[in-house]
Amino acid sequence: MSRGLWITLEGGDGAGKTTQAALLQEWFEAAGRTVVRTREPGGTAVGRRIREIVLHHRAGAPASSGAEEPDIGARAEALLFAADRAHHIEALVGPALERGDVVIQDRYLDSSVAYQGAGRVLGADEIRDLSLWATDGALPDLTVLLDIDAASARARLDADDKPFDRMEAEKAEFHTRVREAFLALAEAEPERFLVLDATLPASELAERIRSRAAEL
Ligand code: TYD
Repeated sequence: MSRGLWITLEGGDGAGKTTQAALLQEWFEAAGRTVVRTREPGGTAVGRRIREIVLHHRAGAPASSGAEEPDIGARAEALLFAADRAHHIEALVGPALERGDVVIQDRYLDSSVAYQGAGRVLGADEIRDLSLWATDGALPDLTVLLDIDAASARARLDADDKPFDRMEAEKAEFHTRVREAFLALAEAEPERFLVLDATLPASELAERIRSRAAEL
């Protein structure tokens, strides 16, 4: 689909993706490129509604039977992320790339493979296939993985003092599975991925991301 440039940032919660996305945007804009900064879930109006459900729904709303309704199950969760993604690519990312813009995107299908495939144990291949079906096979030019261990990530989130969403509230083993899945994805596709240690200073991370982006 691409005439523009499509870069995604991945990593555990608290890895510093938002900071790096902002720095990369500044760099491209200083070079005269038009940048679309976006994220999943929630890059579109439809997506923001899905984001609210998938990250902030609380169990306990009564079902029509009157019985208490359980929390969103793993499969429903995976489909909600995939629905957000399908619409996001069709409505926003695809058209931006067609125009020749640079798209800098916080999270994409690798997050689904890591969180739903490994974290929720739904299977990496199944979730990857679901996502690729949702977006008709769209893959970014570059994926930056900001790698962080579960304990350091948790310390950063605690320091932030914000209430945890449904994913952040998961236990350490969940986040360790997520991290291992991200690393396995990067190993399987070294030409698409740039893996960086998220505990490095932000300025150094930015420099390394820029030099890889410059090659593109
Ligand atoms: P993010 O927007 O990075 O969180 P925050 O705004 O708190 O920085 O991501 C939201 C959460 O959704 C994050 O915990 C990862 C999770 N997620 C999945 O589980 N699967 C997915 O496919 C995506 C895109 C995100």
